Amino acid sequence: MSASVYSSHVPAIGAAIDHGKTAEPYWAPMFAGFEPSKAWMKTHRPDVVFLVYNDHATNFDLSVIPTFAIGTAAEFEPADEGYGARPVPKVIGHPELASHIAQSVIQQGFDLTLVNELKVDHGLTVPMNLMFGTPAEWPVRVIPFHVNVVQYPVPSGARCFALGQAIRRAIESFDQPLNVQIWGTGGMSHQLQGPRAGLINRKWDNAFLDRLIADPQDLSAMPHIDYVREAGSEGIELVMWLIARGAMADAGGGRSPRVAHRFYHVPASNTAVGHLILENQA
Ligand code: DHB
Ligand code: FE
Repeated sequence: MSASVYSSHVPAIGAAIDHGKTAEPYWAPMFAGFEPSKAWMKTHRPDVVFLVYNDHATNFDLSVIPTFAIGTAAEFEPADEGYGARPVPKVIGHPELASHIAQSVIQQGFDLTLVNELKVDHGLTVPMNLMFGTPAEWPVRVIPFHVNVVQYPVPSGARCFALGQAIRRAIESFDQPLNVQIWGTGGMSHQLQGPRAGLINRKWDNAFLDRLIADPQDLSAMPHIDYVREAGSEGIELVMWLIARGAMADAGGGRSPRVAHRFYHVPASNTAVGHLILENQA
């Protein structure tokens, strides 16, 4: 595990890319915040991204909602989210590593759902664009990892952090020396419906970033109600960032990570965009 990346996955960002609006005044400052990330990625390109995201009732409709699900397929098509599939490349998986992680993590006590056929939505494809731009083929393999943050009950921050620790152990015990990054997506503060629709909480979001960097174990004890109250009903997506953070070296007793990039921007659609890149130190 070399590094972790954290990013919002707002669908309107994908629409701005697909419709050539990234240079418009509304969007330009948001995309500018990811220019250092794309430059960083040129010198830190992994073999595989373990990409933690949530399906938004796209692949899993409300009839079946796994809490934690790992994509074990060889490839994953972008889903039609209502306006046709996004014009992005299909996502190439890593079935061998995914199977190994499933074996290891399940034996460590996390009962993952295995997903051998999966269509991926904006939760996965928007962060890919933010980090890689719009290439003809994605330059890395991706293991999609879905977390239910759509219908209650959702997993606790503590469970997500511990799962990240188990994922790190799984990746480190794989018998090929792959460079793997883990990404956590979603957030930051946003509420899409009800009387509080449009809620943004800059102060809370930035404190979340501070705590995620400095003391994620303590942050992981924060109860759901705090996310919902402070960051809005969809702010609960941020528990997924704790999976990525739990997979960093210091969560297993190693050195604290280096902050390679930090960015925060409002607005993007109805959402606060947060972004971090953390590197493990040798
Ligand atoms: C929106 C949807 C999301 O899944 C998200 O993470 C942020 C914003 C939206 O519909 O605006
Ligand atoms: Fe989302």
